[in-house]
Amino acid sequence: RIRPELVVLADADAVADEAATRVAAAMREAVAARGQCVLALSGGSTPRRLHARLVAMGAEALPWAQTYIVFGDERCVPPDDSASNFGMARETLLAHVPVPDAQVLRMEGERPPADGAERYEATLRALATRLGVAEEDALFDVVLLGMGADGHTASLFPGDAALDETTRWVLDVCAPATYAPRDRLTLTLPALSRARTVLVLAGGAEKRDAVAHALRGDADARETLPVARVRGRARTTWLLDRVAAGHA
Ligand code: 6PG
Repeated sequence: RIRPELVVLADADAVADEAATRVAAAMREAVAARGQCVLALSGGSTPRRLHARLVAMGAEALPWAQTYIVFGDERCVPPDDSASNFGMARETLLAHVPVPDAQVLRMEGERPPADGAERYEATLRALATRLGVAEEDALFDVVLLGMGADGHTASLFPGDAALDETTRWVLDVCAPATYAPRDRLTLTLPALSRARTVLVLAGGAEKRDAVAHALRGDADARETLPVARVRGRARTTWLLDRVAAGHA
């Protein structure tokens, strides 16, 4: 197991600053090296601060015109539903940066889940073909991940059978009853692992136990939380505030 890189920062703003710096560098590097960048966004609330910083850099500061936006997961709701991860990304980032519409590849949460999963898998495979990315190569330049207090990441929940998937890139899953909406679409571990850079952002006291568990990475794979089973091409970097890291 390659130990993840741990970066502990003062608070949520510092985490967002560091994340924005790293995302910007990875975008520039990808476009310089390969002519385009594929950026996978995460959902929930943590990304809002990061998105605000990417927007504040200025529309022309980053190579948005050469960037493809994909999503790590989506709730099965229409885009204008307040629970939609695409809706949050559109409101906080995509409406403010010049990514061509055709390069924003959203998961269709408004479709029946199984159909939405199949269609997104086809969308990602078409993207890989268009970019000339071979099966074993990284498709995503940056994968952004969060983690719930229960240790889920994207919409991969601890103990869920979706974690055993080895070939499909997108699955429809049912979140635990504590989560609404329960029907979700999610990238699988094999898909999330097709990343050059994986950044996990987590902050706040409610994440502390899950962070400690994920970083412990028990020997038994089934005991290891989903995020600890994402194997990007490079080391995964955790950007944590002091509270989530258990330092405060
Ligand atoms: C989702 C997200 C999920 C998120 C965690 C953390 O659809 O819920 O993709 O994986 O990253 O739930 O969410 P917060 O950032 O709101 O704590």
